[in-house]
Amino acid sequence: MNPEDVKKVGVVGCGIMGSGIVEVCAKASMDVTFVEVDEERAERGRQAIERSLAKAVERGKLDEPARDEALGRITGSTSLEDLADSDLIIEAVTEDLESKLEVFRRLDELTRPEVLLATNTSSMPIVDLAAVTKRPDKVLGMHFFNPPPVMKLLELVRCLTTSEESVAFARAVAERLGKTPILAKDRAGFIVNMLLVPYLNSAIQMLDEGFATKEDIDTGVTLGLGHPMGPLTLADLIGLDTMLHVSNVLYDEFKDPIYSPPTLLKRMVSGGFRGRKSGKGFYEYSK
Ligand code: CAA
Repeated sequence: MNPEDVKKVGVVGCGIMGSGIVEVCAKASMDVTFVEVDEERAERGRQAIERSLAKAVERGKLDEPARDEALGRITGSTSLEDLADSDLIIEAVTEDLESKLEVFRRLDELTRPEVLLATNTSSMPIVDLAAVTKRPDKVLGMHFFNPPPVMKLLELVRCLTTSEESVAFARAVAERLGKTPILAKDRAGFIVNMLLVPYLNSAIQMLDEGFATKEDIDTGVTLGLGHPMGPLTLADLIGLDTMLHVSNVLYDEFKDPIYSPPTLLKRMVSGGFRGRKSGKGFYEYSK
């Protein structure tokens, strides 16, 4: 199959990242079926997509007929069997290795053997997922950035078993999706999170030490460095639980203290401060 023949994409998981990936594929004229664990989550995913498309229309990025066309291309399901005729799979379920392994085992049985199985994981070893399939050469990372409809980057991750052809295929798909691909090896953090995590953790540490206020830390970075968001606002956007998880994974991999999660981050997650998605993190958010 050629990358231009990808007509149907299956997306597993329709949370923050999955729903954004569904939207990106539908806007690139691909039919997308997403799978969630139950009807309620599938409905929530669909609503998130509708809100994001409405925002795109509001911002003049999309006209109404294009929005309707994109919505018409999207189908929600609660059954992985509905992905059997997909030309490409992108998995974006919770960052839990056992869940991902199970999804990959099932997808390997269900889909045509030539179909690429990609994962949006930001922390799992891709080779572990490849190893439970009979097509380890067709498994790779396609790591999108939050929010996927806006961020132009797509980090491709080649594991030990991924073939050159699969990487070339994924590059072509990335371009069809309007993204710029970069290529990383299969180690924790890939390119971007390896740089991002120590930076965000330093900002959290700085706040915890009372060195500066959260507003001043964020303003320092937006106005002094020209970033669109300060580090504490960005940590809230990513999700503090996700931040903690990615920090732990990086620390486990390299045992370098620069990746070790700050105490304040650990305590905030234990206290239910998960960032924007939970309504409270370093800042408060109305629903
Ligand atoms: N659809 C399409 N375009 C949209 C949109 C949508 N739903 N929402 C916003 N946009 C566009 C806007 O039109 C605007 O485009 P122009 O610059 O061409 O005018 C642009 O996105 C930015 O919009 P705004 O400045 O109005 O800001 P916003 O509040 O709507 O969006 C933001 C904010 C895009 C998130 C921006 O602040 C940003 O880029 N922040 C940094 C995000 C970031 O770093 N993400 C990476 C996180 S790390 C990660 O994801 C990896 C991991 O594994 C942890």
